[in-house]
Amino acid sequence: MSSIPNITLNNGVTMPQLGFGVFQVPDEATTAAVATALDAGYRSIDTAAIYGNERGVGRALAESGVARDELFITTKLWNADQGHDSALAAFDASLDKLGLDHVDLYLIHWPTPARDLYSDTWRALEKLLADGRTRAIGVSNFQPAHLERLLKSASVVPAVNQIELHPGLQQRELRDLHARHGIATEAWSPLAQGAVLSDEAVVSLAAKHGRSPAQIVLRWHLQTGNVVIPKSVTEARIHENLDVFDFRLSAEDIDALTALDRGLRTGPDPDTLN
Ligand SMILES: NC(=O)c1ccc[n+]([C@@H]2O[C@H](COP(=O)([O-])OP(=O)(O)OC[C@H]3O[C@@H](n4cnc5c(N)ncnc54)[C@H](OP(=O)(O)O)[C@@H]3O)[C@@H](O)[C@H]2O)c1
Repeated sequence: MSSIPNITLNNGVTMPQLGFGVFQVPDEATTAAVATALDAGYRSIDTAAIYGNERGVGRALAESGVARDELFITTKLWNADQGHDSALAAFDASLDKLGLDHVDLYLIHWPTPARDLYSDTWRALEKLLADGRTRAIGVSNFQPAHLERLLKSASVVPAVNQIELHPGLQQRELRDLHARHGIATEAWSPLAQGAVLSDEAVVSLAAKHGRSPAQIVLRWHLQTGNVVIPKSVTEARIHENLDVFDFRLSAEDIDALTALDRGLRTGPDPDTLN
């Protein structure tokens, strides 16, 4: 079984650098996919209230027999539940669906700037952290301006910002900001939902290393220092995406992938999604 490296978050909690995402997987199918992932060796699972599959994740965790302290479970607060009291209630509902007494990471899913509630919401997450109901708190889809503003009123610096990130959208300004504040960068849609897998540079590096295009892109993330959470419901791909710890890209290989940056956003724009 592959050994997945951990990164250490800014509060000392460790998090696997590679995890398993379940966006767009129906609840029933989620149980089977997470069971396959846990069996393959994944220990970090990324879900969200809005995915509608926290129960499916919880069933797989309960049936797996994997000790709770070996798991790293992330879920996210949906936009409609932003605000101090509603965030606390939404957290309780997520925990209940997951069948857990705590999560490892709780994220504000989107800044939704037009709602102007993320600073109030953050205070609720700080309370959840202080009460030991989550081991770390963070944000998702925060742009530099949202993060800078949050940091002005926050008592706790977010441990993580989970953002769309892949060779086609490299988010350098955000990654620099994260580095300055000790915030871990977690890449969602690390494979750009497949959109970068036929890029010539990716395909030619796959041939060079005798690996798949997805494995090349995941290696780029890992060597760049990103946390990755590729999603698949296909058993062979679930294994393939984990089988990335026994080869390395050279500096030239990394440069060839870094040259693919082109503002390729596959998901919503965080400035306008509300
Ligand atoms: N915070 C946010 O706002 C946010 C937004 C989006 C996603 N996320 C998180 O990030 C996770 C990953 O993102 P994502 O699901 O959007 O996209 P992704 O992981 O970049 O790509 C998933 C797609 O790629 C395919 N795939 C997976 N492994 C492959 C491989 N080895 N070779 C070829 N194709 C492969 C999958 O197909 P099959 O499943 O059919 O195998 C699926 O269609 C999500 O599941 C979710 O947990 C967070």
